[in-house]
Amino acid sequence: MTDDRVWIFDTTLRDGEQTPGVNLNLGEKLEIARQLERLGVDVIEAGFAGASRGDFEAVERIASSVRTPVIASLARCVHSDIEAAARALGKAARPRIHLFIAASRLHLEKKLRITSEQAVERAAESIRFARNYCDDIQFSAEDATRADIEVLRAMYEEAIRAGATTINLTDTVGYATANEFSRLTQDLLRIIDGVDGVRFSVHCHNDLGLAVANSLVAVRHGARQVECTMNGLGERAGNAALEEIVMGLHTRRDYYLAQCATNTRQLYVTSRLVAALTGVEIPPNKPVIGANAFRHQSGVHQHGVLRDRSTYEVMRGADVGVPSADAPLGKLSGRHAFAEQATKLGFELADVDIDAAFQKFKDLADRKKTVTEQDLIALLSGQLIEVPSIYHMVTYQLFAGNVLTPTATVTVERDGRTIVEAAVGDGPIDAAFRAVDRITGMSPVLESYAIRAVTEGQDALGEVTVRIRATKDAEKRTLGKGASTDIIEASILAYMNAINRSMINQA
Ligand code: KIV
Ligand code: ZN
Repeated sequence: MTDDRVWIFDTTLRDGEQTPGVNLNLGEKLEIARQLERLGVDVIEAGFAGASRGDFEAVERIASSVRTPVIASLARCVHSDIEAAARALGKAARPRIHLFIAASRLHLEKKLRITSEQAVERAAESIRFARNYCDDIQFSAEDATRADIEVLRAMYEEAIRAGATTINLTDTVGYATANEFSRLTQDLLRIIDGVDGVRFSVHCHNDLGLAVANSLVAVRHGARQVECTMNGLGERAGNAALEEIVMGLHTRRDYYLAQCATNTRQLYVTSRLVAALTGVEIPPNKPVIGANAFRHQSGVHQHGVLRDRSTYEVMRGADVGVPSADAPLGKLSGRHAFAEQATKLGFELADVDIDAAFQKFKDLADRKKTVTEQDLIALLSGQLIEVPSIYHMVTYQLFAGNVLTPTATVTVERDGRTIVEAAVGDGPIDAAFRAVDRITGMSPVLESYAIRAVTEGQDALGEVTVRIRATKDAEKRTLGKGASTDIIEASILAYMNAINRSMINQA
């Protein structure tokens, strides 16, 4: 393919969901898929339909509700996987089956225990089989950067003959240097028979911090699809970060000589949504979407930026959709202004309970002089993971200090009934969580607890994220979020949100 249009293949819901500790439920996956559609990605890999019931349902649901992008399901070169993918994609407007098989000698010998000739044959046979169900077939040679180039050539050529429409070069373990990846891309594009008639894609992992660089260098040499995840989520050190790929292409179009169709202004809100739903927070120094990405600390830089932003900025925060500090809302702002601001930030108000969100905004505005766009994003993304409360916090009281044993009394409502319990703990938050445990009769393992200030200032909104496991050996983790100007309250809200969500997910 010789045109300059690069497809963005988002795999947040498949490779990204393989991030340790991340566990998205069906509603959350759908929410992310809808936002990816607004972002304008070309392909959404919605899951691995053959891998589990949950993945199957996610692919099926996304395929029937998200109509603009291509919806892909991953599948091994195994008939049952292909059939599961085809069934799950049955209602898709634009379905794609994404087949993969190992290509490196290491993977073939140790993992599959087959020869490279058998792998080539199995790939071709599977693609022919998959073509009975779908015209759009992607083939990935796994661990390609550690494979013999002649094996890759044979695999891709057979894949194209068998009917693959996209072929994907993977750096599964993030091993290739930028020079090696560039050379491999150029060599494959030169030697593979039939490559001009298909889309050449790349899929890079970030083990050595080169996922984005390797992907972009491949685009420079002719790759026309990049596989990536929002916030760079993914196995181990993650995948190439979508926001960096998109802004790299956008900012250095002169160099890459290629462009994508992504709406860059939706990047920030997509990133915040994914962080809120996965519980994987974004480091402040993360390119493009980190809190410091458009901040200038030194006087010299500030002076330069005031004169002309391009002195120290290669892109604008507004291009990425970073909220501005101006136009804050306050307690006199009405529902209309609130709804308008939320829509501007990229939230589909149909997806959140607008009445509950507006009430939360009013409560916040009572406590905080101004409600900034950052506050609204925290509030609305928290609202997205809100579930119909089984337990609902009413009040809490605390005795704490460094000379007495922290004691918390928490009052909650369940089905109109008020329940009050008190407990002591190592600290005030521990005491409050133990009181909640007494109320619910559950004592989940608190796997992680994180707090961040959404904005600056003493009245800043504190956002707490917790992750719980039902019991010590339970596999499944549940995320909970709470936001308040009072961090103890935010902590209790987050903990109860996690408990409510785990009960609903089990139901
Ligand atoms: O990293 C990898 O090789 C993959 C393939 C399944 C595309 O995720
Ligand atoms: Zn991968």
